[in-house]
Amino acid sequence: MPLPAIRVPAFMHAAMPTLDSARERLRALREEITFHAHRYYVLDAPQISDGEYDRLFRELLDLETRFPELVTADSPSQRVGGAPLPQFATGEHRFPMLSLENAFDEQDLHAFEERLRRYLKADRPLAYMAEPKLDGLAVELIYEGGLLTRGLTRGDGRLGEEITANLKTIASIPLRLRQPAAGPVPELLEVRGEAYLAIQGFRKLNETRREEGETLFANPRNAAAGSLRQLDSQITASRPLDFFAYGVSEPEALPCASQYQLLKYLGDLGFKINPLAKPCADMTAVINHFQVLAEHRHDLAYEIDGMVVKVDDLALQQRLGNKARSPRWAIAAKFPAIQATTRLTDILFSIGRTGAVTPVAVLAPVCVGGVTVSRATLHNEDEILRKGLLIGDTVLIQRAGDVIPEVVKPVVEQRTGNERPIHMPAHCPECGHDLVRAEGEAATRCPNPHCPAQRHRALCHFTGKAGLDIEGLGTKAMEQLLREGLVRDLPDLYRLDPATLAALDGWGEKSAENAIAAIAASREAPLAKFLAALGIRFIGEVTANLLAQRFGSLASLMAAALAAGDDDPLTAIEGVGEQAAASLRHYFGDPSVQEMLGRLADLGVRPLPAAAPADANSPLSGKVFLFTGSLANLSRNEAKERLKTLGGQVASSMSRKVTHLVCGVKPGSKLDKAQALGITVLDEEQFTRLLNQG
Ligand code: IVH
Repeated sequence: MPLPAIRVPAFMHAAMPTLDSARERLRALREEITFHAHRYYVLDAPQISDGEYDRLFRELLDLETRFPELVTADSPSQRVGGAPLPQFATGEHRFPMLSLENAFDEQDLHAFEERLRRYLKADRPLAYMAEPKLDGLAVELIYEGGLLTRGLTRGDGRLGEEITANLKTIASIPLRLRQPAAGPVPELLEVRGEAYLAIQGFRKLNETRREEGETLFANPRNAAAGSLRQLDSQITASRPLDFFAYGVSEPEALPCASQYQLLKYLGDLGFKINPLAKPCADMTAVINHFQVLAEHRHDLAYEIDGMVVKVDDLALQQRLGNKARSPRWAIAAKFPAIQATTRLTDILFSIGRTGAVTPVAVLAPVCVGGVTVSRATLHNEDEILRKGLLIGDTVLIQRAGDVIPEVVKPVVEQRTGNERPIHMPAHCPECGHDLVRAEGEAATRCPNPHCPAQRHRALCHFTGKAGLDIEGLGTKAMEQLLREGLVRDLPDLYRLDPATLAALDGWGEKSAENAIAAIAASREAPLAKFLAALGIRFIGEVTANLLAQRFGSLASLMAAALAAGDDDPLTAIEGVGEQAAASLRHYFGDPSVQEMLGRLADLGVRPLPAAAPADANSPLSGKVFLFTGSLANLSRNEAKERLKTLGGQVASSMSRKVTHLVCGVKPGSKLDKAQALGITVLDEEQFTRLLNQG
């Protein structure tokens, strides 16, 4: 249930409520929304549909837009992110946020227990809490009078960065504490826990970044850290971050006797508590739970890198106290790294659909964490040089996260002198064309647009999940059609007939008919999907959407790409950069592409515009607006919506594409930049007039 997009409020036509009735309604709405958000984001047990929730949320936003003076710090509307900050302030933790000592095997855990017993002079077994060690970012949330007032990163343990606005965007973090069963809401509470990004959210984020040509995050942890350290909290709000609470700075001040009760108490206050945290009567139970977690870690939706073992009794924790950097009462039991050594026997070079040549390590098959690995990507030439790999090397490999195997490094001590250097080929292994590596690029490419390997990959992409997702034409089936010579290019697809398909190995009449029907349906695929399916370099889902919205048809996009002149209609679109534009010009300028698209059109392939294309006659068509400072009479979101309906575009940062800066109260540095760039600056009155004229 993501936060809904904010629309133009419907209130423009409704009667204006009084301040008192609005206050009352807002109070009720906040309570209701907070209740349902907790059911959904924390308990994973929604009671109403997403649609009903969205309606409540929209009503809240409508009312708050009309009565900005009634917006409260704990209103769910405050989760959407605010104005970007120039930098983060530093804040001191009242109690340092410590780190943990590590245990790498059972022996280390027994030694930990020994130390505890010696320290406590205890001879009876100790009870523990065993909690998954989340691989995210430790943060502290400060609640005063029940209200979330500040949020800090761990930083160096003593000083952290204030990332309050960013943390407020995480839907599972309560903005106001719930009333606990035991006693009143504490006056001051510093909650500690882990902010993280689930694996799926991480993959999706990287997918989008790949399309946009941005650098990829190495793992979910880095992605979470990068998202939380955004100066623009609206960017943070767009990332699916989550939070598990696991402790507080001063447990002795709470009505809890054990870590187990503390977690339960934090749950009562409205926090998400990890369901795999387990009370253990002794160290044997701890070790059992460790094995369970190690076995199931890859089934979880988020990454964990071990288990934290804590003495359960809070009075004992206090007696044990802290060492310089870590508490005596807890230890992190780390999972063994999923690594192995094997031999690098050869290198293959595979050609991607955009011609990039990827070196792939051929490995003597080896079992890593239960999976046999015999190939690992080496990405590009620089990566091979950086790692200093030679053919014949014994190499250390590991499975990063749960999936992709990677070569970590050569085991240099085991070299015999018979190893051979790795050279990038000079010619395409598939078509023989000279390979090129452009200045400043990491990739070596085959520039031949007719290279059969590229065409194969491009065709598989077109019918596959990232393309038009044509039922029955997954990678396997496509490879068969290519092998059989039935499909050599895209138009061939639309000439297939059921009888030919049904006669192929593994096909029957029914599956052939279904596939043909799916192909037929794809003739009228949405334009954005079709564009992304073509596999044009730098044109992923996001850019394809922008292009489809702006141009509405393949023909007008093509015309725009081929139009010469100083005012490039492609880069004029906010979100379309020079690289993407150059790639489109290159693609549509190729006579063989033009011919192929012509044949597709003859075969009835007519991608449909998803939405009405922006009308070139719209009053604000071609104008790009940027906002700074707050507007007195309408919300930024409403202003943006109204601009869009008039054909204007809204930018998120200053660039040469911006044509108008709308300047509210307390403008930021954008105003200076706009003046320096000679961009038209509108005050609120001028801006409102412009909207009304439209
Ligand atoms: S308790 C006094 N519990 O592990 C130490 N830490 O080195 C209190 N972590 O980055 C830490 N899951 O954020 C604790 N269930 C859990 C944890 C956990 C992950 C992280 C923590 C910190 C590191 C400790």
